[in-house]
Amino acid sequence: MSAGSDYTGGGNLSPALLTTTSVTPDRRDEGVALSRHDFLAGAASWNARPPAGAGGMGGAGSRPPGTSFHRAEALGPEPARITLTVNGRRHDVIADPRATLLDTLRERIGLTGTKKGCDRGECGACTVHVNGRRILACMTLAVMHTADEITTIEGIAPDGQLHPVQAAFIEHDAFQCGYCTSGQIMSALALLDEIRRGEPSAATDDVTAPAVMLSEPEIRERMSGNLCRCSCYPQIVAAVRQAGDAVAEPSGAG
Ligand code: FES
Ligand code: FES
Repeated sequence: MSAGSDYTGGGNLSPALLTTTSVTPDRRDEGVALSRHDFLAGAASWNARPPAGAGGMGGAGSRPPGTSFHRAEALGPEPARITLTVNGRRHDVIADPRATLLDTLRERIGLTGTKKGCDRGECGACTVHVNGRRILACMTLAVMHTADEITTIEGIAPDGQLHPVQAAFIEHDAFQCGYCTSGQIMSALALLDEIRRGEPSAATDDVTAPAVMLSEPEIRERMSGNLCRCSCYPQIVAAVRQAGDAVAEPSGAG
């Protein structure tokens, strides 16, 4: 900052702006520096003031002597009642309408099996099923799913009986820390249903063929949205192949 800048001692700042900062006229005369923080806070307060003549608290005219500045309140939408159907059960929750499905599942409903990795659609740890299709729960709002059937990892093993995909993951040691595993399993379940429906992927050689083979390239391509920091990929592929043989019917998991 050059000498004589507006940021030292007031300079050309408007008197109105200076009255919103902690720099009093007397101290300005003494050449007290106006910090960047004071300047920004004062500017925000000045911008948030009521229009001239509006009166009320917070107006420049009503500010008591010696008051430095007023912070503007952060305003947002009121919490909303949201009804979600998860694993066949209805849940009424009060949540911020801007809450993601992931946060709502974990923090409002208490289903913490769905994990938060990146929280921005890159790792797949938050994979759940909505109406039988896999989605990333961190990339969608809970209020968008009040009419949907949601399935989480907790919903695929009713009565404590492991799903064949879960059993295959255990048998093939397809995890280490386990943080990505619920998302991997939910993706694997959806993958097997996609194969059964004959839906091609970028790895499918003949997209016009009526059936898609559960090959290693197909598994790797279709699981590519699920990252594993422990790098258990070979075991995951083996587990999905085995589960594909074991699961004869669509999973019904969502
Ligand atoms: S937490 Fe949703 S994709 Fe990573
Ligand atoms: S098992 Fe650790 S991140 Fe996949």
